[in-house]
Order: sequence, then structure tokens, then C-alpha cells
Amino acid sequence: MRAGAFTGIAVGPFDPQSPQAAAIADLFGSALLICGAVFALVTGLVVYCVLRFRANGAREPEQVEGNTRLEIAWTIAPILILAWLLVLTVRAMSASDPPIDRDPDVTIIGHQWWWEARYPSGAVAANEIHVPTGKALVVRLESTDVVHDFWVPELGRKIDATPGRPTSIWMQADHPGTYAGTCAEYCGVQHAWMRISVVAETPEKFAEWERHQLAPAPRPTEEAAVRGATLFGAMTCVKCHAIGGTGEGARFAPDLTHVAERTTLGAGVLPNTPADLSHWLQDPQGIKTGCHMPDAQLSDTQVADLVAYFETLR
Ligand code: CUA
Repeated sequence: MRAGAFTGIAVGPFDPQSPQAAAIADLFGSALLICGAVFALVTGLVVYCVLRFRANGAREPEQVEGNTRLEIAWTIAPILILAWLLVLTVRAMSASDPPIDRDPDVTIIGHQWWWEARYPSGAVAANEIHVPTGKALVVRLESTDVVHDFWVPELGRKIDATPGRPTSIWMQADHPGTYAGTCAEYCGVQHAWMRISVVAETPEKFAEWERHQLAPAPRPTEEAAVRGATLFGAMTCVKCHAIGGTGEGARFAPDLTHVAERTTLGAGVLPNTPADLSHWLQDPQGIKTGCHMPDAQLSDTQVADLVAYFETLR
């Protein structure tokens, strides 16, 4: 089994790709420099004093008390340093997290253990969230079950997704690309496999993607795929998954209308290949223990038919 389709992608805050993330990274860099200088000064003085004033025999050191000038200096210096850090922090906060003044461009909903994205157009996506480049987007965060935390460090700040209490953040991608993120709040047994990837595309490509998402699933023609489609409707699949255009399905689990276009399964736990999809259908609990996808006890033929059907969903 090839677990961990996303493990090769680093999730890190040191390569900001948006003005919001850059403000946060700059603040981190400045704070690190200031704190590093203080650390170097203090440890340097300790080492110097240990060497310079080490005891020669048992002589008592000269006893002194108080030094007004020194005491004023080491009171004022930290105040100035902290005041400077406060200024930097307020500046970074207003650059990365200005007030939200309009409706969301996308609503992202945390589920145990995957992310759902809903666009005002009606388009839906799971785990792979497409956005247009060069535009500050309002992202609204919700949760259906427990507290999750949405974090795509290259594109913006992190924020909790709390049930019953929606919040919004700004997110932007300057350049086309795929940006990795993860759930950053422990949310149950599969917290680690709640990856997210933001696919940033030019506004034209994004509009094309969005139009395509709104299109219903194509009707299968090939024999195995037709059998798979019938099976999908007859079994418990439709109790959780929807497929656009079939008139069936619920929304407790990822929408499968265009499932074959996704790059991973199970919020990043497997790459989305026909072989891995078969494996996933046969043993979801072995691959992602505790997830809400049950083992449907499918026969090999049923798995093959379902995979044939799902592969048509583009
Ligand atoms: Cu969702 Cu951790």
C-alpha cells in the first residue's frame, strides 16, 4: 500500500506566496532576529563572565549594591524591544487579517476527516480547493462536527473551524500552483489525514474549472461502468455521497460528481489511481482507521464495476 500521497509536499510557513502569508513570515523573521540577538547577548555575557571572573582560590568578590544607570538601562531596553515587537505585530495583523467586508468567495467546511468547499456558484469540491490567482479571497470556515483548524501556511493565516460559529479569513495566491495545507487542531483519530491542497489557477482557468464542476456527471456507456452506476445507487454509497445529475445522494461525504479528477483519496491518504481506488473500496478501515467510510463487504467484481464507473466521473 502506498500510504500518504501528500507526504512529499512540505507544509511550511517559510515560503509565503501571498501578501497575507508574507506579512506573517516577515513578522516571524523579525521576531526571530530580535530574540536571537537578545539570546546571543545574554549567553555571550554569561560565558564571558564565567571565564573572565572565575574564582582564583577562595577570595570573596568585592560586594557592591545597585547601579542606577545600569538599572535604568536594563529597564528601558526591554520596554523598547517589546514596543517595537508590538508595532511589528500590529502591522502584520492588519496586513494579514484585515476586517472582512463582504460575502465569502468560498466556504470551507471541516468534517471528520476531510474538507468540503462550496462556492457561491453552487460548485462543490473536496480536499482540493481551486482558487483564482491574484485575488484576495474571503474564505468562510465552518465545521459539521468538532473543532478543526484550516491552515495553508503559504497562503495565509490559520484559523479554527468551529461548529456553530463560522469565521472568515483572507487568503490569496499570487502565482498558479498547488499549495499544501493541513488540519492544525487535533480532531480525532484521523486528524493527521485531513490534508488540504489549494490549487491556484489563472482566473480564466479557474472559471473553466468552476463551470465544469457545475456540469452533471457524464452517463456511463461502458458495460462495467453501467453496472457500477447501478450498484452505486443500490448500495449504501448514496446515503453519504452525491453524484451530480443522478438525482441521488447525500452530502455527508465528498461529492463524487468529478471524483476521477482529484489527485488523492481520503483527504490525502492515497493517490487517486484505479488500483488505489480499488484498495480503498475494499478496505477503507484498514487504510484510514476510524473514518466514516464503512467496509461495504464488496466482492471483487463489485469493486471493479464501481471503479470502472468512478473513473468515468470527470
Ligand atoms: Cu480536523 Cu484535525
